[in-house]
Amino acid sequence: MTDCGESLLAPSALRPSEYTAALVHALHLEPERVRGANVLEMGSGSGVVLAVLAGLGAASLCGIDVEDDAVLAGSLLLRDLGHEARCQIHKGDMWQPVKGRRFDLIAANLPHFAMEDHEVPGRHTTWSAGGPNGRRLLDPFLRGLHGHLEDGGRAILTHNGFVGLEASRTILAGFGLSLHVTKSVFVPIGPEKLGLMSPAVLAAEEGTSIHRYGPYAFADMHVVEVTADARGTRAC
Ligand SMILES: C[S@@+](CC[C@H](N)C(=O)[O-])C[C@H]1O[C@@H](n2cnc3c(N)ncnc32)[C@H](O)[C@@H]1O
Repeated sequence: MTDCGESLLAPSALRPSEYTAALVHALHLEPERVRGANVLEMGSGSGVVLAVLAGLGAASLCGIDVEDDAVLAGSLLLRDLGHEARCQIHKGDMWQPVKGRRFDLIAANLPHFAMEDHEVPGRHTTWSAGGPNGRRLLDPFLRGLHGHLEDGGRAILTHNGFVGLEASRTILAGFGLSLHVTKSVFVPIGPEKLGLMSPAVLAAEEGTSIHRYGPYAFADMHVVEVTADARGTRAC
């Protein structure tokens, strides 16, 4: 425990977003599905999702992030909340730190905003940029899931509407997995971020998954669950 509790507060660049809030809410709705689970969070940032999973009774917790300060902030948070013994946070790129390991539950709120790498004020460039179509990390994450989920395991992740649910379903189907939307909300997109969005995505999605009212804009954001498909097959 720290004397002043400072380590409970992640640096402002890692402050949880409305995406994290939606993911946390979805986890809270089904605590019985977290209790006793071995869990992984890809892109653990502040560590707050791992802290929630610990509070819901996960048996073990593993986090991965590419940023040193995320690894530090998450480790301190879990330590300060008394979950150190069952939590490990690795620095690394995507699946590389957990080669050969499988989990009951994998959570993720990945960078998947459709934009090239840009400085977004107050955030690391690695926080939300998902490349021109937003899928630069999402696609390898989805392709790696089948090799890291236990039989009967599931993943839960945030998914911007404008990056295409059907594209994700198609990738997952190739591995015997299916995707279900569990919850949908609007998230605000500030003017700076909207200005950085790939023009092709903005043009294609405005009026469908992006809703503009003068200078204000919202995007459809889903929390989705990935499980083995009805046939129960899993590619090796
Ligand atoms: C949108 S943030 C989510 C953070 C976390 N859920 C939270 O609320 O604090 C995405 C996170 O993914 C991390 N990240 C970016 N690229 C990554 C990669 N290639 N492998 C693992 N993590 C990555 C970022 O550093 C960031 O912490």
